[in-house]
Amino acid sequence: AALTVTTAGTVGTGAPGHTAPPGHGRPSPSATGTPGSAGLGDSYFPDYGNGGYDVDHYDVRLRYEPATDRLSGTTTVLAKATQALSRFNLDFLLDVESVRVNGWPATFHREGVHELVVDAPRPITAGQQLTVVVKYAGVPSQVTTPGWTSWKRTADGALAVNEPESAWWWFPSNDHPKDKATWDISVSVPTGVEVISNGLQPRAPLPEAGNRTRWSWRSTRPGATYQAFLAIGQYDIVTDTAPNGQPVVNAYSTTLGEREPAARASIERTAEIVDWESGIFGPYPFEAQGGVAGPIDGIGFALETQTRPVFGPSFWRRGANPYVVVHENAHQWFGDSVSVADWSAIWLNEGFASYAEWLWSEEQGEGTAQELFDFTYAGYPADDPFWQVLPGNPGADRVFDDAVYDRGAMALHQLRLAVGDDAFFRILREWTAGHRYGNGTIAQFQALAERLSGQDLDAVFTTWLFTAGRPELSTATARMA
Ligand code: ARG
Ligand code: ZN
Repeated sequence: AALTVTTAGTVGTGAPGHTAPPGHGRPSPSATGTPGSAGLGDSYFPDYGNGGYDVDHYDVRLRYEPATDRLSGTTTVLAKATQALSRFNLDFLLDVESVRVNGWPATFHREGVHELVVDAPRPITAGQQLTVVVKYAGVPSQVTTPGWTSWKRTADGALAVNEPESAWWWFPSNDHPKDKATWDISVSVPTGVEVISNGLQPRAPLPEAGNRTRWSWRSTRPGATYQAFLAIGQYDIVTDTAPNGQPVVNAYSTTLGEREPAARASIERTAEIVDWESGIFGPYPFEAQGGVAGPIDGIGFALETQTRPVFGPSFWRRGANPYVVVHENAHQWFGDSVSVADWSAIWLNEGFASYAEWLWSEEQGEGTAQELFDFTYAGYPADDPFWQVLPGNPGADRVFDDAVYDRGAMALHQLRLAVGDDAFFRILREWTAGHRYGNGTIAQFQALAERLSGQDLDAVFTTWLFTAGRPELSTATARMA
């Protein structure tokens, strides 16, 4: 049978659809099975992720040229079909050379900005193991899309860091936190350039032909795709052992100039901070610790990348800043281990990581959580638009609004006042234990809080998370503590 090459729906950044190299006797796409959905139905980002399969592991094997920003390589996706599939999608932006499914060359095409649609070269049955090998190459910094940009080329290399989308700038994936997986990342770079990523190095950097070095990193606990990161450039890597015996890998960009001491003074406290947080939130969920002080021309935010948050240079502007280290490491429990099941629940990440900063302040004697609550409440006048954003459902374009962070922390403080300290900290620990390496919803969190406190907490959740306008402070909740 003649092979039909689909080139439909090529949009934006993508090159026209390609086929695998000619010369193979390829069967027609399977007549059985149905297409996997192009999204997982997230209420904010319905086309993120894909239906019909579940990924176990990504093996991302790349080559990077800092001089040109050219990224090339192969990602192998190990997955399991959850239905009979005639075709399925991966989320990816760069140009694809070839796709194989269980060894068979597969035809594919692009749809929209980030959908890579792969035809099943053989029938795929429900429950079948899939090994999908995608070969690709591109210049990620030249890709333009309407959403977040997650690839940042710098003077000495690049950063692949962002949320809620990130992976599709550098590896094909099922890009939604509902499909967690482990991953291996290896990158070949010119010798003298460092590559930092998540987890641990399963082997030392390996010299390769052409004066190159291949760096390998492995994440052995399931994580969401936006947790995977790359930092490529000139870094000083410092290793240590944490109080719990785990390896600590910190990395400092050598481009930070006079900000470098403050970056070091902050990130060097990671193991101490994780140890303190473990006492409050429960056992640390991952296999390694650390932090990356990104370059001076890098990102304007910090991200809780699994086992190893990445920090933009602005956090060191006014000297050492342990608070941002507290925040990003609190996310290891709230966001990374327990991930949102839907991006509308971003409060479960940002409210909790922000409240961790208030707890740290209390611990350090720099202001109690109650004082920070009062200060924050007074800091936003009642007519400030801040109070119009609902932390429990901020909208797709406001997932990182101040209200999600600050009013989000206020909501947790109100919960703490309502149930008392014993129940409050028990709720936090049960939440991280019960949803470890999984997902959660705000309704599930409220149900847990109600079960452990024996109280109806609907008023607290509704008032602080789901009602526009500045809540009145009852004397009961304002002054207890
Ligand atoms: N989750 C990050 C944090 O810890 C925020 C990421 C924001 N991303 C951005 N492009 N501004 O707060
Ligand atoms: Zn955060």
